[in-house]
Amino acid sequence: MCGIVGVVGNVNATKVLLNGLNRLEYRGYDSAGIYVNSQDGKPCLIKRVGRIKNLEAAVPETLSGTQGIGHTRWATNGEPTVANAHPHVSADGRFYLVHNGVLTNAQALRNEYLADVDFASDTDTEVAVQLVARFVAEGQSVKEALRKVMQLVEGSYAFALADKEDPNTIYVAKNKSPLLIAKGDGFNAVGSDALALLDQTNQFIELHDEELVVLTANSINIESIDGTPRERETYTVDVSEGDGELGAYPFHMLKEIDEQPVVMRRLLSAYAKADGSIDMPSELLDAMKQADRLYFVAAGTSYHASLAAAAIFEKMAQVPVSVNFASEFGYHIPLLSKKPFFIFLTQSGETADIRQVLVQVKKRHLPVLTITNVITSTLAREADYALSLHAGPEIAVASTKAYTAQVATCALLAKALGMHKQVAAAADWNLAHDLSLVATAQQTLVDQKETIHKFAKEMFATTRNAFYIGRGSDYFVSLEAALKLKEISYIQAEGFAAGELKHGTIALIEDGTPVVAVISDPVTADHTRSNATEVEARGGKVLHIVTAALEQKGDELVVPDVNPLLAPLVTIVPGQLLAYYASLDRGYDVDRPRNLAKSVTVE
Ligand code: G6P
Repeated sequence: MCGIVGVVGNVNATKVLLNGLNRLEYRGYDSAGIYVNSQDGKPCLIKRVGRIKNLEAAVPETLSGTQGIGHTRWATNGEPTVANAHPHVSADGRFYLVHNGVLTNAQALRNEYLADVDFASDTDTEVAVQLVARFVAEGQSVKEALRKVMQLVEGSYAFALADKEDPNTIYVAKNKSPLLIAKGDGFNAVGSDALALLDQTNQFIELHDEELVVLTANSINIESIDGTPRERETYTVDVSEGDGELGAYPFHMLKEIDEQPVVMRRLLSAYAKADGSIDMPSELLDAMKQADRLYFVAAGTSYHASLAAAAIFEKMAQVPVSVNFASEFGYHIPLLSKKPFFIFLTQSGETADIRQVLVQVKKRHLPVLTITNVITSTLAREADYALSLHAGPEIAVASTKAYTAQVATCALLAKALGMHKQVAAAADWNLAHDLSLVATAQQTLVDQKETIHKFAKEMFATTRNAFYIGRGSDYFVSLEAALKLKEISYIQAEGFAAGELKHGTIALIEDGTPVVAVISDPVTADHTRSNATEVEARGGKVLHIVTAALEQKGDELVVPDVNPLLAPLVTIVPGQLLAYYASLDRGYDVDRPRNLAKSVTVE
């Protein structure tokens, strides 16, 4: 949510910033801007509304410099206008600041310190840059002024600050919002995530909350908010899982859907051993074995993956599981079991709603595992245990391969835990074999794009609403498939427990209402079919997605059979592709849907 990049040193700053912003665009794309202290010594600020390409078109090819900061925005305070776009500049024209996060006491600070200053924007960020200028004008050094701002502001921030009178330095500060330092050869940089700077270096330094950094071309000085120096080693980011490049694909989402079979196989090589056992840290399994209940805490797609994962844990590890929305759980913690164990399932590892829960859980000294695609993320770092999804960078805002990687990783962990607890079902489960069948089944489906595109045209070309229905894990898939459709095609879509439809919602079915029935569960298949027939009797247009073993004459889309516990990994694929084509045919930007951001670092 909002992306930051900044660089200082022996590089073409404009190029580094624009490359970085393009790679960070998934974090927000309402507006974008850069500040470069250009080679001829003139500061240059360029901001545009909309996508990075609008900004790029406005940047002169000749603009280069050795110091710069850039930002791509997901609006929180103030509309997406040029005035509200970052970088923000102090009234005296000296300081430029980009910010990710929300300063909750900005108005109070403005009233107290800046009543005489004319503001150019409606943002909370501008308060911070005006405060820096004010404190410097009062005689403090830039570093001391930034430190004072850190002490005064409440809320979350990742800041990168440039002083036009000092083209050799960038000041950085962080609290709650993600930010990393990148160490280069003859330059240093800062970014919201490693992806932004992987074309420059693979050496990174993590920052902790309430730290301030002074960056020059050859030095990185980290201090705590009270001025205590902090030493920190660099770590190497592995780029072997792909660097998020689009290649020949028109959209990242299609590429990421296609990558799912590869991700399944990658997970097998990361976690499965040749003898069929699963390689998971023994301390993690010991801690989970003690638990009398697992509490999944997640948001959005990851919440839907948690629902599918919970069913697998209950069966294979014989442990009760509860699945919770992070945004609800943190402020309304239910009565917990005696030995709870928390699992944060999160693609980005940065979701602020989950971090809020982490704070509560830590206060109670309860054990936490984060399962994430970004193993260097805040939630991975701050949890007691962390596991990687190995999905490679997911760039499209609508999550696809991270969802299937989440369910598969949980299946691997459930089997490992079950074996650790000597649950017979887990010992008997040939999961490696089942997951390779899943990979093959996914491949069969991604190879049927034309057929699925045809269904998308028939079902979703003009409709304003749609339903997905199913029972058990087919219901969980219905929730996720409907979310995909909503996110990128803006069709009002609902995932529904098939049996619940008749208890009210069936009133919405009229002539031609599209309803997708997901049927993979042998126990409830006939019931879901009856519910689909009830819909048809009221004019609804039904598309049946059915596993081969349950196929009946007239079923439109038959998907290969896999272990029913893993069916979500397969039945979701047509759901993802239907959403993709619905969005494409309506002419939308599939990868950058309106109003959304991939990493939501505000509550
Ligand atoms: C945002 C994204 C969703 C994602 C959710 C949770 O809303 O747009 O795609 O599912 O956050 O994100 P997480 O990174 O915690 O999985």
